[in-house]
Amino acid sequence: MPERIALIGAGVIGKRHLTAMAKVESVELAAIADPHASAAEIATEYGVPHYSSANKMLSAVAPSGVIIATPTEHHFEPALAALDAGCHLLVEKPIAATVAEAEEMTRASEARGLCVLVGHHRRYYPHVARAREMVRGGSLGQLVTVSGQWSVRKPESYYAPDWRRRSPAGPVLTNLIHEIDYLRYIVGEIRSVTGLAGNSVQGFEKEDAAAFALQFENGSLGAFVMSDQADSPWAWELATGENPAFPHSGQNCITFSGTRGALEFPNLRHWTSDGEPESWITPKRVHDISLELGDAFVRQIEHFSEVVAGRANPIISAADSTGTLRATLAVLESARCGSRIDICGPERKN
Ligand SMILES: NC(=O)c1ccc[n+]([C@@H]2O[C@H](COP(=O)([O-])OP(=O)(O)OC[C@H]3O[C@@H](n4cnc5c(N)ncnc54)[C@H](O)[C@@H]3O)[C@@H](O)[C@H]2O)c1
Repeated sequence: MPERIALIGAGVIGKRHLTAMAKVESVELAAIADPHASAAEIATEYGVPHYSSANKMLSAVAPSGVIIATPTEHHFEPALAALDAGCHLLVEKPIAATVAEAEEMTRASEARGLCVLVGHHRRYYPHVARAREMVRGGSLGQLVTVSGQWSVRKPESYYAPDWRRRSPAGPVLTNLIHEIDYLRYIVGEIRSVTGLAGNSVQGFEKEDAAAFALQFENGSLGAFVMSDQADSPWAWELATGENPAFPHSGQNCITFSGTRGALEFPNLRHWTSDGEPESWITPKRVHDISLELGDAFVRQIEHFSEVVAGRANPIISAADSTGTLRATLAVLESARCGSRIDICGPERKN
């Protein structure tokens, strides 16, 4: 029998989950909850009941799993309600708007013996898995440095709603959290963050650029710049072409460098001294590693159905994703207070 999954929040990413669910036989859409009028039409299209609130849906439908795809500041309440109703969760990233809410969600799920999978969908790409294997498996020797960039220019129309000009909707919490998550996954825990943020282009409350330095638990150091107002080909979405809405640049935006070689990412290019002693005077050879991107949202739903069925633990749990949220918020916190933020808490060791 397929797992009965309900969707709370049928906006941009909610619709992407619906498309993915339609391709996975082990799940069945049970209902959609969203107060917006367009959600009723979407429910009709998928032939499922529509509810204007999560609570009404949960008591009427009793699904075994729920996808929370509401705006980030509205993850917490429906997530707690769905856990109270005995549902396993797939919660969109960031898990919550604050670390306190994320920790409460973790406690509530553990107390009820339910699983929370968080929607950091990039973890399902083979490129990320291979980079993790190479970095952690010693293909680069000892990892020494990581450099990265995520720079795009979002159009004026994106900022028409006032809430998109405010800090919680800024590119650090909305976009950079993806990069922080895969850096933690590939390299390991982040020990400290030192950041700068500016708004010199748009002058909104939210940042339009950030720069930060990272210190990883394994001793390697990183430097990263990012902006939602810099028109460049260097951003994950453009590098991979994962979403047809964005033009494909194919330009890599991250480098991992170790004592025995280097890796460009996400289109994997492995640079080595080709068996000669590693040195700046040794010519470098590059080996391109070609992998199929596939559909990470479909893989995520397949994994969620295994989690709901009790056959798998979440690839990214509530506690793990709280570590990603904590490190991401540390960029803004460091920029605000002008000093290094040491990241601590139980999630460090995940
Ligand atoms: N994984 C990704 O790559 C990715 C991409 C985009 C967005 N997201 C995340 O997904 C979440 C939603 O973003 P979006 O761009 O789809 O937003 P959106 O504004 O397009 O959609 C949100 C939907 O939730 C509904 N909603 C609001 N409050 C609700 C409530 N209390 N109960 C039920 N429905 C409610 C709204 O009516 C709307 O239809 C955010 O947390 C965002 O960070 C993730």
